[in-house]
Amino acid sequence: MAVARGEFSSKIGFILAAAGSAVGLGNIWGFPTNTAMNGGAAFVFVYLILAFCLAYPALMAELIIGRHAKSNAVAALSGESTKVPAARPFGFLVGITGIITAILILSFYGIVAGWMISYMIEPIAKMAGAPKAAEWLTDTSSTARNVFFTVLFMVATVYIIIGGVKNGIEKWSTRLMPLLIGLLVVLIIYVAMQDGAAQGFKKYLLPDFSRVTDPELLVDALGQAFFSLSLGVGTMLVYGSYIQRNENLVKLGTMVTLIDVGIAFIAGLLVIPAMYVAQAQGVQIFAEDGVTLLKEDTLIFQVLPQLFNTMGATGLVVGCAFFFLMSIAALTSSISLLEVPVAYAVESLKQDRKKSTIAIGSLILAVSIVIILNFGMLFGFVITLTTKYAQPLLGLCFCVFAGWLWHRNDILNEVKEGHPDAENSLFWKIWPWYVKFLCPLFIAAFFAKSVI
Ligand code: PHE
Repeated sequence: MAVARGEFSSKIGFILAAAGSAVGLGNIWGFPTNTAMNGGAAFVFVYLILAFCLAYPALMAELIIGRHAKSNAVAALSGESTKVPAARPFGFLVGITGIITAILILSFYGIVAGWMISYMIEPIAKMAGAPKAAEWLTDTSSTARNVFFTVLFMVATVYIIIGGVKNGIEKWSTRLMPLLIGLLVVLIIYVAMQDGAAQGFKKYLLPDFSRVTDPELLVDALGQAFFSLSLGVGTMLVYGSYIQRNENLVKLGTMVTLIDVGIAFIAGLLVIPAMYVAQAQGVQIFAEDGVTLLKEDTLIFQVLPQLFNTMGATGLVVGCAFFFLMSIAALTSSISLLEVPVAYAVESLKQDRKKSTIAIGSLILAVSIVIILNFGMLFGFVITLTTKYAQPLLGLCFCVFAGWLWHRNDILNEVKEGHPDAENSLFWKIWPWYVKFLCPLFIAAFFAKSVI
């Protein structure tokens, strides 16, 4: 008997889940720090263009393929809809590589998310008058602390995914996403009222256009856009497969992109002014040369906590809220990463959901622990391998599938579900040739640039 597939119960359920996947450490940590290190507003400008012109079409490719196939990425790409039978094994390979990439991303993501939790608890330990515990919580060299919080985070991720699409992913995304947005707004208002914030806003919002063609900036912005929209690993394909047939995919995809880009932008309004507020309080934010900013982990885990420290008791609350925000953002993304292998195990390998979620979660945890134990050698390596190489290349493959290897009629019919007039829409006039020629070409060009 076929296992009944889960589905999002409503439009808003899908939007919050997909936006929850997209909005994560990539937005609140990656985007602002990338912006700060790439000349401020110039990076924002390039990022916005790339997100809408390259990442959005690739997102649509995943959503359309997913909902049409109503299955996980491996089954979708190696199934009937791939019109060239010889390409089906290739589809299988792309799907499996996506799963492995999702597992690897989650293995480093879980470590970073664990740090967020420990930094969230640290102010509480201080308030409770336990300075020793507070010290341990922020001790980056403590393997015990790193392992403990990674385990804690993975347990939460596994718990939600066992619940399935409606009672796990949708339920928790609709609870956590509004909380995240509310917290973000409160923190921005608070930081904006502090001395030094104005200088940060200036840096963030006034572009230095001379940097716009800098190849490094372009490559960073593309990688950031693909990571942020959760592309290439099959996450959006799987979430797309849980959308009901009467929903308009074009509208949903656009909403998710707007929310993701919007929240990244808003997070910049928090983190960059906060850095300058810290500077106004005497905290060092630039390296020795006085021009280059400190590295991103230093910014989040040293500069910001130092800023919170200068604020006395209020700082404890603000610090706790900030890292709580980070932890929520990470959780709604990590569940989408875990759903990729779990959907494959349940549907294609016919395994029990609960058992496979626990087994895959444990496997990922094991990989995380190996990374923690060989941190210097593996942490940066896994991040580069997955986000700089695998994600753009897999994203390119999805575009090739949608543009060249799938039946065009299948794709059109799918877009028409929930959007009967699709054939005459602007989307259908542009997207098919765009995803066929321009997207693969541009992604390949950027990729070549980043490798050479
Ligand atoms: N988009 C998430 C973030 O910005 C990360 C992610 C990547 C999630 C790939 C799922 C798949 O943090």
